[in-house]
Amino acid sequence: MEPAGIETMLQLLRIQRPEAILEVGTAIGYSALRMALALPETKIITLERDEERFNLAVDYIKRAGMQGRIIQISGDALELEEEAAGHGPFDTIFIDAAKGQYKRFFELYSRYLKPGGMIITDNILFRGLVYNQEADSRRLRSLVKKIDEFNRWLAANQEYDTVILPIGDGIAVSKKR
Ligand SMILES: C[S@@+](CC[C@H](N)C(=O)[O-])C[C@H]1O[C@@H](n2cnc3c(N)ncnc32)[C@H](O)[C@@H]1O
Repeated sequence: MEPAGIETMLQLLRIQRPEAILEVGTAIGYSALRMALALPETKIITLERDEERFNLAVDYIKRAGMQGRIIQISGDALELEEEAAGHGPFDTIFIDAAKGQYKRFFELYSRYLKPGGMIITDNILFRGLVYNQEADSRRLRSLVKKIDEFNRWLAANQEYDTVILPIGDGIAVSKKR
């Protein structure tokens, strides 16, 4: 996450004081560690499909002594529902994985969100490309289209109040009604 994006998210989390967060997309554990350090009472369940990144995150989380509060699950988030749900329900879900799959992650895991809970989705403006539609390759244009469709779907979703913050790479903050 970009610095302004992560600082904004951490501040929202300090206000919300979640007991349990589900993160989709650990990478090497940076945001999981930042959340764990900012929220000393919070348990974080984090999913990562890339084995090399997963193992790096294991190492960093261990070095930080946070393995008791950050539970890492290896695999494709779209196939980890049962295992992840066993650690729920969640106060917060943080979606920061494959951008073309955001709607699927949202639909899959939002059912394990507590009433009044919050879903934070990163990269929803994707380097400004979602706004100015100037992606210069077919692959990027298709990805931008998917993110745009997700944003519109999310904004129209009556189960959530959503605000899109043009901070970092664009963050959607959705609160379950
Ligand atoms: C932007 S990085 C996450 C960054 C991390 N949240 C942070 O801010 O430190 C996205 C990660 O999501 C992982 N990812 C993408 N699609 C995934 C999926 N379907 N299931 C699990 N992990 C996925 C990628 O391998 C990548 O490491």
